[in-house]
Amino acid sequence: MSRRVPFRRPADSGGIPLVGSLNQKTKTSPLLSIGLIVVGAILLLGYSYSRSGGSTTLRESIGGEGISSCTLEVQHAIPILKKVYGDSMRKVLHVGPDTCSVVSKLSNEEGTEAWGVEPYDLEDSDSNCKNLVRKGIVRAADIKFSLPYRPKSFSLVIVSDAVDYLSPKYLNKTMPNLARVSADGLVIFAGYPGQHRAKVTELPKFGKPAKLRSATWWMRYFLQTGFEENEAAAKKFGQTAAKMSYKPNCQVFHLTS
Ligand SMILES: *[C@@H]1O[C@H](CO)[C@@H](O)[C@H](O)[C@H]1NC(C)=O
Repeated sequence: MSRRVPFRRPADSGGIPLVGSLNQKTKTSPLLSIGLIVVGAILLLGYSYSRSGGSTTLRESIGGEGISSCTLEVQHAIPILKKVYGDSMRKVLHVGPDTCSVVSKLSNEEGTEAWGVEPYDLEDSDSNCKNLVRKGIVRAADIKFSLPYRPKSFSLVIVSDAVDYLSPKYLNKTMPNLARVSADGLVIFAGYPGQHRAKVTELPKFGKPAKLRSATWWMRYFLQTGFEENEAAAKKFGQTAAKMSYKPNCQVFHLTS
């Protein structure tokens, strides 16, 4: 829950002084109303911007307010993933939108080398992201096709907001491909059915709206396509999350590669 604080704080601290001065002087109130309208407009803009696939900062600042971002969820889950995967976090590939934010955060972790694949677009990325792209740490790649890495290039592959957008036909190509580049396993963050994102009909960036399948659907799919759940990791993730009072906003699947 603490992750929502950065969003609420500006609105709260802005609101209190406004109310105070309103009582003192009626003369300034038109100005204040304009100010409030502007604040409202900015929040609304931010909201719609993020729904249409806005920048990392905007999306992050309003993350959790009914719009799901599993990429943001990956960032929240890093401490737990570290506890669960230990040494398998030494060389991580993240695949998903806003991968630069995840790569930056993972790289701050001791003993973790992070790489990223951005499946959608990198056009409006910030300078930090451009830097990661220039260094070849983050790449733009269509995950429907073979990823530009050798087999077992990474100890762990973490995927968010990516497989949700693929039809079973492409899932059949992409999943083995993700598994191919991973030595120790795959962690898939997928949206829950019924989350707000499902109602976004037009997400130009993603090509089509997310399908947001149920856990039953995914488990059946994994079984059918020969993937095995990493039961030990799944169990430890559940236990660690409970201990840290962390409740993921996304479905998290742990697969062996
Ligand atoms: C995907 O692969 C599974 C298992 O090989 C197969 O049963 C299924 O028909 C495939 N789906 C599509 C759409 O190709």
